[in-house]
Order: sequence, then structure tokens, then C-alpha cells
Amino acid sequence: MKLAIGNDHAAVEMKFELIKYLEEKGHEVVNVGTDEKASFDYPISGLKVAELVANNEVDRGILICGTGVGISLAANKVKGIRAAVCSDPVTARLVRQHNNANIIAFGERIVGLETAKAILDAYLNAEFEGGRHQRRIDMITEIEETQTLKNE
Ligand code: RB5
Repeated sequence: MKLAIGNDHAAVEMKFELIKYLEEKGHEVVNVGTDEKASFDYPISGLKVAELVANNEVDRGILICGTGVGISLAANKVKGIRAAVCSDPVTARLVRQHNNANIIAFGERIVGLETAKAILDAYLNAEFEGGRHQRRIDMITEIEETQTLKNE
């Protein structure tokens, strides 16, 4: 799979470990985050990964900051992006199967490296189930486009 990974200063070490892990598994990883521990504003990485995903330049995105929250909030402002913060592998699987999340996010200050690897495995091995879940995704898209829902 072709993946984009972005981060801020709080997640540099974890990012490098995860790039190595993903490449060993055969994934191609585009690194768009900061490689330095100097203070770095997470919305920059959130936007870049979101653009790569929204423009279909990569298959899925990965975002890491201190908590995973700020960087996912930024990514979710881009049309077509569904970035989900996860701290466990079960949620990571379900956000793909049910919510068709195209970006996964987590926090280096929240999850350890082994949990982060398990989160990525669960997320990347899962597929969207469609069906009733598609109708709900369509509703999310309608909110994104019109700021309302016609048929509640
Ligand atoms: C940076 O200190 C921290 O605020 C950031 O990494 C993240 O946790 C924000 O949501």
C-alpha cells in the first residue's frame, strides 16, 4: 500500500520506528512530517497528509502528534477526509470497517510503540464493509457539503 505519514515534534521517534516497520512489511511510505524535535505546528502535517489522501496520491494516511487529536482535527477540515483517532487495535479495525476512515491518528504520548504497530496492522488489514455503513458515510458527506441533513 502507498501510505503518507505526518507528525509534529511530539512524535518524531515513533514516526521513524513506524516508517521502518511499515517498509519492512512492503508498504511505500511518504514522509511529510517534521524530522526534528523543535516545536512544529501539527496542522501543517495534518493538511499535507489529508491533501495526499484526498487527491488519491496515496491509499491511506497516518498522523501522529502528542495525542493524535490536534493533527486529526486539522486533517478533518479537508473535504473527503475521515481521520479517526484510535488508541487500541479494535477501534482501529472498526473505523475502517464501519466509518471508512481514510486516515488513522494516534498519540505518541498516549500509546506505546507496540500498541501503535498493532493499531496500524488492524487498520491496514481491514476493509470498509459498505451496506448500511455507506448510507451513514453519505450522511457525513452531506453534512460536509451542505452543513445540514435533508432526510434525518
Ligand atoms: C504538542 O505539544 C501537542 O499539543 C500536540 O502534539 C498534540 O497533542 C495536539 O493535539
